[in-house]
Amino acid sequence: MRHLIDILDLSAEEIDDLIATAGDIIAHPEKYREACRYRKLATLFFEPSTRTRLSFEAAMLELGGQVLGFSEASSSSAAKGESVADTVAVVGGYADIIAMRHPKEGAPLVAATRSEVPIINAGDGGHFHPTQTLTDLFTIRREKGHFDNLTVGLCGDLKFGRTVHSLIAALSRYSGIRFVLISPEELKLPSYVKEAYIKQKHIPYEQTVSLEKALPSLDVLYMTRVQRERFFNEEDYLRLRDSYILTPEKMRLARPDMIVLHPLPRVNEISTEVDSDPRAAYFRQAKNGKYIRMALILMLLGIRVGEEQTYAH
Ligand code: NCD
Repeated sequence: MRHLIDILDLSAEEIDDLIATAGDIIAHPEKYREACRYRKLATLFFEPSTRTRLSFEAAMLELGGQVLGFSEASSSSAAKGESVADTVAVVGGYADIIAMRHPKEGAPLVAATRSEVPIINAGDGGHFHPTQTLTDLFTIRREKGHFDNLTVGLCGDLKFGRTVHSLIAALSRYSGIRFVLISPEELKLPSYVKEAYIKQKHIPYEQTVSLEKALPSLDVLYMTRVQRERFFNEEDYLRLRDSYILTPEKMRLARPDMIVLHPLPRVNEISTEVDSDPRAAYFRQAKNGKYIRMALILMLLGIRVGEEQTYAH
């Protein structure tokens, strides 16, 4: 049985396979309509979410499966003091696969130790968010055609932004990658991420506070929201929240083929006037999330669609 807790639980070849399956799902949706018939996905969300939870649910429904779950800790037995390990031990009896989001770093990993069904980490605190990374990688592949030799700028809250941590881990496996880390001093990339993925692999990187200076060199700009819920005090959030605002004027500094990604939700870090720029890929990215999650569910349930289709009842 496989879980997806950290993006590096998947090899680069497996990620290629997921991307190929997601592309095939877009091209031939009818082939997949019954693939998860009689299967159930449980979404256990102890933290707010729109895209991740709904795209998981839409993914399972489009595969012909069913979904159950909760979207707030307060409506689950966590409110009575139940541990995540006990919750998944029970839910594993009701569902075939579980997607879990939790405010505590490591909670899905703990859950996996007690689970009889595959656990997918749908975001754990300020740590990791591997299925957002699959979405990001799928989008980069569709928009740019490849991963090698890209200069990727990551901008905003690099400290608490879990999507950034997982994306750096994943991209650090491709050749010729270069990172430009754009953040205020207080929201710099944590050293555990920098050491484990960037320094250890000798990946060239630059750190800057200036988005304007970074923009001309980038193939991909990954914008992020300042993660208000992870701040210890509101004043710090208020001081840092407007650090970066991408506007049409700033987009003039960027290459004509640069793409702008954002895991969303956006607060004010990208002006809505940028949305009509063809380089703004974030809404296409959100849509891609459903297809890559369909591919992931199939992989973790061991279901192959095509000649070797297997249905488990
Ligand atoms: C991200 C998350 O939850 O980390 N959202 C998402 O899943 N698309 C980014 C964020 O909340 O800023």
